Amino acid sequence: MGKVAVGAAVICAAAVCAAAALVVRHRMKCSGRWARAMAILKDMEEKCGTPTGKLRQVVDAMTVEMHAGLASEGGSKLKMLISYVDNLPTGDEKGLFYALDLGGTNFRVIRVLLGGKEGRVVKQEFEEVSIPPHLMTGSSDDLFDYIAAALAKFVATEGEGLHVSPGRQRELGFTFSFPVRQTSISSGNLIKWTKGFSIEDSVGQDVVAELTKAMERAGLDMRVAALVNDTIGTLAGGRYSNQDVIAAVILGTGTNAAYVERAYAIPKWHGLLPKSGEMVINMEWGNFRSSHLPLTEYDQALDAESLNPGEQIFEKVISGMYLGEIVRRVLCHMAEEAAFFGDTVPPKLKIPFILRTPDMSAMHHDTSSDLRVVGNKLKDILEIPNTSLKMREVIVELCDIVATRGARLSAAGIVGILKKLGRDTVKDVEKQKSVIALDGGLYEHYTKFSTCMENTVKEILGEEVSENIVIEHSNDGSGIGAALLAASHSQYLGIDESFSTF
Ligand code: BGC
Repeated sequence: MGKVAVGAAVICAAAVCAAAALVVRHRMKCSGRWARAMAILKDMEEKCGTPTGKLRQVVDAMTVEMHAGLASEGGSKLKMLISYVDNLPTGDEKGLFYALDLGGTNFRVIRVLLGGKEGRVVKQEFEEVSIPPHLMTGSSDDLFDYIAAALAKFVATEGEGLHVSPGRQRELGFTFSFPVRQTSISSGNLIKWTKGFSIEDSVGQDVVAELTKAMERAGLDMRVAALVNDTIGTLAGGRYSNQDVIAAVILGTGTNAAYVERAYAIPKWHGLLPKSGEMVINMEWGNFRSSHLPLTEYDQALDAESLNPGEQIFEKVISGMYLGEIVRRVLCHMAEEAAFFGDTVPPKLKIPFILRTPDMSAMHHDTSSDLRVVGNKLKDILEIPNTSLKMREVIVELCDIVATRGARLSAAGIVGILKKLGRDTVKDVEKQKSVIALDGGLYEHYTKFSTCMENTVKEILGEEVSENIVIEHSNDGSGIGAALLAASHSQYLGIDESFSTF
């Protein structure tokens, strides 16, 4: 071999070696990054763990806090608010009633014709209106004027057979899904906003008075006959169709529960003991917190940066407003600390709340062999164009960790209520059915979440007890429920012979 050929061979070999070294270094770098990303995922999984033993501690903490909240005002993080609903619908309710359902980024106005035991819900009509984001953090008058205007427009569309008798005032059940300290069935002061609302001048105000003033400004003559939380509306609507309903839970943008309590078990109730002996309690369980909750640094950061730091901690690990955001925070950490998406952090990933829970749910439910839905969501929402199948699998796994924790903790909350009512054990004498009415977008649309929640209730209670526990979807019960409660608190009760009370 000539000198030139030898030289060329040496250069070639060196180039091959250098290239190989680069590949090896790149692979090592990648595997180092991958290992770091996996460590972050593993750590998240461990910290979010909810073995049955831990859930039992949450159940117990929930019942302890329920007792404390019932004992005195401010006695617990659980407000255990008295609803003034001491009778639930019987089916006898009759007449035309309106409902207004305000609790998220949309509100609904509803018109219902109730026909008593025979007719039941004869007819109903509704309209859904979205709230422009600036009204969620603006002034009270602006928000209520907007709502009253929409309500007035809806009332103007009353058609054949769907209007109140001449000379009568229209009556409304107002579902207001925020914590309110009620002063009667039809009045109450707002304690605080949740779920991204923050309208400072209405905190402490009577929300019925605010709405009534806005209705007057809109030229609408309507009386608020009942002010209810969405959990109370759902409980009322649930009881209307099933007499065994004893509690209602909302799993939606926010989360909360209400249940029927024995009035004598409410030490802070200073009113007359109701004839029924019962009182519905709005727990405001979104504000529950306990050292047994498996919280992570991501939850702490989310809370600290939220509109209501230190509040609604249970809600912030369970509900639809936050699940997607938790996933985003973990992904952002993986991008920053383990270059999970490459050398730079995708800018969109840094935007809070960009990953919504419905998108997380779509990724979590992706059954395609190449996880196409995950890939498309990452591309469309986070503008991350190329992701490997391995990366997509990690993301599905992360969704699973976050959703499973939320679902299992909500199950523990439900068992907490059953335990408070003494319905968590098998009684030989009396095998009573306990039905829990569930509603909310998270429960309705995030199937893996709801299935896991229902299975966990069974896991905690055991097979035998579970036979008597039914979780029932109360589709949109809260609107009908509010109308039913407006009917049972109508100013015309007793005047109109055709209306039988319960
Ligand atoms: C509110 C509750 C409401 C729940 C579900 C929470 O943020 O505080 O009053 O029932 O969301 O809508």
